[in-house]
Amino acid sequence: MSDSIHIAVVGSGYVGLVAAVCFAEMGHSVVCVDNDQKKVSALQAGESLIHEKYLPELLQRYRNARVRFTTDLSAATREAQAIFIAVGTPQSETGDADLSYVEAVASEIARSITTYKVIAEKSTVPVYTNEWIRRVMERNGVSREMFDVVSNPEFLREGTAVADFLHPDRIVVGTDSDRAAEIMSKIYEPLTTGRYYAKAGAIDGSCNHDTPPPLLRTSTKSAEIIKHASNAFLALKISFINAVSNLCEAADADVEQVAQGMGLDNRIGPRFLRPGIGYGGSCFPKDVAAFRSVAEQLGVNFALLTEVENINADQKRRFLSKVRSALWTLRGKKLGVLGLAFKGGTDDIRDSPAIDLVRMLIEEGCSIRAFDPAAMQRAQQILPEGPEIQYASDPYDASNDVDALLILTDWSEFARLDLQRLSAAMRFPIILDGRNLYDPELMLENEITYFSVGRPTRHHTEELAAVASRSR
Ligand code: UDX
Repeated sequence: MSDSIHIAVVGSGYVGLVAAVCFAEMGHSVVCVDNDQKKVSALQAGESLIHEKYLPELLQRYRNARVRFTTDLSAATREAQAIFIAVGTPQSETGDADLSYVEAVASEIARSITTYKVIAEKSTVPVYTNEWIRRVMERNGVSREMFDVVSNPEFLREGTAVADFLHPDRIVVGTDSDRAAEIMSKIYEPLTTGRYYAKAGAIDGSCNHDTPPPLLRTSTKSAEIIKHASNAFLALKISFINAVSNLCEAADADVEQVAQGMGLDNRIGPRFLRPGIGYGGSCFPKDVAAFRSVAEQLGVNFALLTEVENINADQKRRFLSKVRSALWTLRGKKLGVLGLAFKGGTDDIRDSPAIDLVRMLIEEGCSIRAFDPAAMQRAQQILPEGPEIQYASDPYDASNDVDALLILTDWSEFARLDLQRLSAAMRFPIILDGRNLYDPELMLENEITYFSVGRPTRHHTEELAAVASRSR
């Protein structure tokens, strides 16, 4: 196909693997490189490695054809017109991003370049990384006309990664070079012209032929900051509503009503205003810390970000106090836990507030009976089964004979449980919901004492007494 571009994607983690199969779905020819031979072999055999909708089908359709997997970065570099760097940028001890993987990849690309390449950063990286990559290339003897470095941040979410990639709100291309911008425009052309959405069998999402996503061209530094600023802003929105939820608890108001009322303002919008036990995952905690560190290094006061982090950490401690106040003492209590993943729809437990809470509860002397639809295998690797934690086969099994049941992840199946069956399984009908999945009235009707976040607690026995006294 004439519009097809040869692309190399370096790194086969969440962003790299999803980008690789999605570029193939858009009609390009892709080589996905990883230095982990085991991962490469598994991908060649069609194992998708991560729990992500549409990924198994796309992998099946394109693997060893339009998407090839290899450990050979030099060969992949030579073939490709554009090389996307999507390796990890873990958090270092000081909070800033560890860029050693990015540097190693840049050095290796430099050693293999024979013709002009666009090198696109897709990993989340701090401002100035682009310049560093350029310097690494030049130090390794590559002349300036042989390459351009572009910042092309990725905004996909876990659980909806494929649909997010193919239906982005925007595509950001940060570059000062027209030559690089032209290649990047060609790569995204199936999306920006709407052509992809008119194709039979295209993956569904928010974009369509008539409303394709915009491509925003910026400077490289602006693009780098857009990614960090966007994630930090979303984290801030969550911490803001969590702080409001604490206020609602103190004032006996309902945070869900408050969030609804705020979200109806078009300038605010309803999304990312769900209160809970705090944000987690592989991006928000790391990116807020990295952005804070960038600000510090540039001498800019951005204490707001520290407050976002403080509120987030506090949210878990507040929930722990709620469990304590519901049960009086914690030592020796048996607790059911629904949810271990950092959010519903994924098996990822990196920086999961649910896992943090389980650890805190175990430290307080509780024993846990946990269930998660997808994350139990990963959880068992860091919290092996033993007297302190057991893994259940379903939510009802997790509730068996427990002093209270805790909902810690917003899996949609946890919002549709048979409450009578749950209540019958538990020693005491007490539910502490860290994700506000239920209407408190429904809990009351089912004679369950219900604690949630930012809403008045419903003690069914006291409510019954109040109803009885009113009817007297
Ligand atoms: C996030 C960004 O959304 C995405 O653009 C970026 O590329 C990677 O980081 P992800 O980590 O997959 O994506 O999850 P997201 O759905 O954004 O949720 C992050 C955390 O915030 C989760 O722990 C979630 O439970 C929490 N959250 C989210 C809330 O507590 N309340 C909300 O209203 C929304």
